[in-house]
Amino acid sequence: MFKNGISIVGTGYVGLSTAVGFASKQYKVIASTHDSGKVAKINHGKSPFYEPNLKELLAKAVTDGYLRCVLDSREAILNTSVTFIATGTPSMPDGDIDLSHIKTTSREIGESLRHKNQYHLFVVKSTVIPGTTEGVIRPALEEYSLKKCGTDFGLCMSPEFLRQGSALVDTLNPDRIVIGEHDKRSGDILETLYKEFYEKIPPIIRTNVPSAELIKYASNSLLATKISFINTIANLCEKVPGADVARIAQAVGLDRRIGSEFLNAGIGYGGSCFPKDIKAIIAYSRKMGYEPELLNVVEHINEAQPQKAVEFCKSLVGDLKNKNVAILGLAFKPNTDDMREARCMPIISQLLKEGATVKAYDPVATQNAKTIFKETISYASSAVDCLKGADCCILVTEWDEFKKLSPKDFIENMKQPILVDGRRIYNSDEFSQNLRFVAIGLGK
Ligand code: UDX
Repeated sequence: MFKNGISIVGTGYVGLSTAVGFASKQYKVIASTHDSGKVAKINHGKSPFYEPNLKELLAKAVTDGYLRCVLDSREAILNTSVTFIATGTPSMPDGDIDLSHIKTTSREIGESLRHKNQYHLFVVKSTVIPGTTEGVIRPALEEYSLKKCGTDFGLCMSPEFLRQGSALVDTLNPDRIVIGEHDKRSGDILETLYKEFYEKIPPIIRTNVPSAELIKYASNSLLATKISFINTIANLCEKVPGADVARIAQAVGLDRRIGSEFLNAGIGYGGSCFPKDIKAIIAYSRKMGYEPELLNVVEHINEAQPQKAVEFCKSLVGDLKNKNVAILGLAFKPNTDDMREARCMPIISQLLKEGATVKAYDPVATQNAKTIFKETISYASSAVDCLKGADCCILVTEWDEFKKLSPKDFIENMKQPILVDGRRIYNSDEFSQNLRFVAIGLGK
């Protein structure tokens, strides 16, 4: 029913994964972006960023004729019946959400809609604070299309919960689907589309638009809270001889009421979503006259956590001046080259401030890291190369290839074998026996 035309405005992680997801199931998809470089790349079957399996599926979708990318959203609106809006919603300096891209998009697609006679459904996938869809997007669509929402076109807010590093798997297998509907007809159409698209349909929550907008923030806030919670227990463990946060998290997580995911202690959460979304919901709550104290603390704990890696390093190495520190992992998490809010940034900046020399290695994020750190640090060609001559190593991102390193690799290559495990990937008994080893959440 919908296979002849789905359009997606925005080609970031959410937009492109949604586009490729639909195209992989033989939907004719038109993606649109203002970035001409991205249009050219996508139409050549190349992904603008690293994401497992995206390259292959994107290339196939383009070659088979199911996906193309355009610069002008008018073509996308006129040739499809449903449009997903997936433009970015970055943070402003005060933490508030920056809606400028959303406003431009709404105006443009509203203008395009003016030239169309058939009913069209718009679905907001971007993470937006409550009130945005009905208070910013709908009025712009109506003003610029000269049409009425609910009669001439439909509108839903359907948040996306995909994670970078597993974006396509998450897109094709969501735990649940949320449909926040402006009106019943819009919700019915979107539910029909999802039922057609998913082979195994997950639970569908149909609700109003502001609840759907808030569901995304509630989910991300709770996940971030779990991380700051387990990091609190980790910090306590370090004061308790013999205590180990990894075993504690394992036992706590087996309680079905709690669940085992997002209880990995470490140097905190980064990325394009959690830091920005927590800031945005805090700023929004304040605007609404409510002080979200729990979220303030979640953020505060997260900001302090990376400095623990530097403190550990100093506790073993002493004064950092002219010491060589090896950083394993730069991306904000494994399986991505995304450096946004990566935890290595506060760590490296503090190390440099204290006079250390930093050499770093990441399997895929080095190119992006070079644009941030430039010549202030050096870049290794492999994990072992990174360790050579180092006085201390800090494990920052838990890439699988780092999990394969043995105590021997550290002993044979480093000037002195000192390891700070910032993500709890190494067996503490084995590593403590062979080298000077400290880890987040491990009691001395
Ligand atoms: C997150 C949400 O998981 C996803 O649902 C939403 O759509 C976008 O934001 P993402 O940022 O891609 O996804 O990655 P995620 O796997 O959630 O990790 C975010 C950060 O939390 C990473 O820096 C990761 O290292 C950290 N993390 C995650 C922990 O420190 N401990 C954990 O137990 C889990």
